[in-house]
Amino acid sequence: MDGFSSCGKSTMAKQLAREIGYVYIDTGAMYRAVTLYAMRKGYIAADGNIDKKALEADIVNIMIMFVYNTEKQRLETYLNGECVEDEIRTLEVSSNVSPIATLGFVRQAMVDLQRLMGEAKGVILDGRDIGTVVFPDAELKVFVTADPEVRAQRRYDELISKGQKVSFEDVLHNVKERDRIDSTREISPLRQAEDAVVLDNSHMTREEQMAWLHGALAVATLE
Ligand code: DC
Repeated sequence: MDGFSSCGKSTMAKQLAREIGYVYIDTGAMYRAVTLYAMRKGYIAADGNIDKKALEADIVNIMIMFVYNTEKQRLETYLNGECVEDEIRTLEVSSNVSPIATLGFVRQAMVDLQRLMGEAKGVILDGRDIGTVVFPDAELKVFVTADPEVRAQRRYDELISKGQKVSFEDVLHNVKERDRIDSTREISPLRQAEDAVVLDNSHMTREEQMAWLHGALAVATLE
């Protein structure tokens, strides 16, 4: 499942995985964890400049895992043994993640890990390059899109509900800026795979989206 940021991909993918007994892999969380690591190590300067050499030399020391938290009933991202699920969702990480995700050595490391995680099949991944690069032979490819304002409102509501102090304008700017960087980067830009089905969920309820996905899955299984 690929698409623009804040389209609700992960919410849909998580629910679908639960309903059909698949394993969900949040590839955006992996790029976010690398970003958090780089921020903590001081590899990202205040002006956004990245010390690429230092990060590349250190990339082998970044261990990312997903662990299910039974109490919170959610899958959590671990960075070198530490749960960073909440920290990787801050606007600060969101503002730095797209430039980190343009780096070839970061993408290579993450794609290798994603292929390993999906080797045994029965997985749903969401990201930007899953259908085009990571698993070009996937049985079903969904490309998700929605109006930028609708996406920014969803992300804004989510951040506010978590107690973060953000303005709608900042969130909208971040959404548009990530769209721009993700779609225009040289390596594995966000684009719709030729054999992907498009889901524009700007004006769809959660139930309508899930019904749509189950329909798409049924068609893909028949083919
Ligand atoms: O889905 P998300 O917003 O959590 O993703 C965070 C960033 O990571 C997004 O701006 C682009 C990048 N990303 C990517 O380049 N490739 C992926 N497969 C997933 C995410």
